[in-house]
Amino acid sequence: MISLPFLKRKGSTVGLDIGSSLIKVIEIDHSGGRPTLTHFGLHRLAPEAIVEGEIMDRDLVIDGIRQCMEKAGVTANSVVSAISGRAVIVKKVVMDKMSAQDAQEAIFWEAEQHVPFDIDDVCLDFQILKEDAGANQMEVLLVAAKKDMVNTHANLIRDAGFSPVAIDVDAFAVQNCFEQGRFDGGEAGSKKVIGLVNIGSDVTNINIIQDECPQFTRDISVGSNNFAEIIQKEMGVAFDEAHAIVSGTLGDRDPVKVKELIRQGAKDLSLGIERSVSFLKAAGDADAIEEIVLSGGGATIPFLKDILAEKHGIEISIHNPLAGIECREGVFGEHEAEIDAIAPLLTVGIGLALRKAGKE
Ligand SMILES: Nc1ncnc2c1ncn2[C@@H]1O[C@H](COP(=O)(O)OP(=O)(O)OP(=O)(O)O)[C@@H](O)[C@H]1O
Ligand SMILES: [Mg+2]
Repeated sequence: MISLPFLKRKGSTVGLDIGSSLIKVIEIDHSGGRPTLTHFGLHRLAPEAIVEGEIMDRDLVIDGIRQCMEKAGVTANSVVSAISGRAVIVKKVVMDKMSAQDAQEAIFWEAEQHVPFDIDDVCLDFQILKEDAGANQMEVLLVAAKKDMVNTHANLIRDAGFSPVAIDVDAFAVQNCFEQGRFDGGEAGSKKVIGLVNIGSDVTNINIIQDECPQFTRDISVGSNNFAEIIQKEMGVAFDEAHAIVSGTLGDRDPVKVKELIRQGAKDLSLGIERSVSFLKAAGDADAIEEIVLSGGGATIPFLKDILAEKHGIEISIHNPLAGIECREGVFGEHEAEIDAIAPLLTVGIGLALRKAGKE
């Protein structure tokens, strides 16, 4: 979305998802009929490398990117990456009807009214969602990201020896991946209001979509780490064990107790979802969400799906980002056996690698 120079079409795209706990590299070949995942790399970062989206130890992250690219065996130099968090603002705005070219200028005036940062400090991008919103107006999706955040991210990638050809937004990469699954499954064009909830380790990206358009997008500072902290504290277990429980290894721990603590941890997440729905209602865009699709490493937290389904009274599923694509045989290497378990955390990386030239 916030594109640096240009994206050359070479048949393949490399998606680089720098998460606060895991770096993921995905290469997708677009030259055949169905997109094919050809290279994959996963690298665990030390917890102190990135904390709540802030890069605390640059060298650790740069080294992590290099190792992950090496593991993936990627030979290309160009990558597509993404940012998320509070430095990114996504807003649907209504403005006078005009050509996309004229909107390029007008969007600055528009952004000044909607973005709580100095306009000189942000990178702006937009997409016309609805050309005719009545009364000679059009509906536009405005995306603003703090320049220093975009530059820090791009420079990190450059310093690791790669070239960032586009910097996207996590929430849009999630949607891109989800839409590919729907397209491939013959379900494109659905009018359902769907909440895409990507639960990372520190940040959750909420993107409520309808008719392939983002209706409301917000990142909240909640992730699987919050659940691990509660478990560590309340069950008196070590850091590693708490994280193993959150990742699905319950061992001989009392499932009733674990469920109760996960329910406790899910409160902030539920509140974030409820608030998003309230915004949607207030804007008159939709009354409710009809379905929630979870992704990210937090999607598989034990009992979480059922707890959220109970709380929000709607259907909840866990996204399978591999549903809409082919995978080269053996591409997951040492992770092949656990691929079903880790698939949800590949959603952003796959969504990035699904981008093609000209589709910004
Ligand atoms: N099999 C698994 N291996 C590793 N982590 C897992 C696994 N299953 C679940 N997890 C959880 O997934 C989390 C990582 O999820 P994800 O990769 O989506 O986050 P991230 O992108 O690193 O973080 P953020 O987006 O918040 O910066 C881990 O912290 C862990 O709690
Ligand atoms: Mg992430």
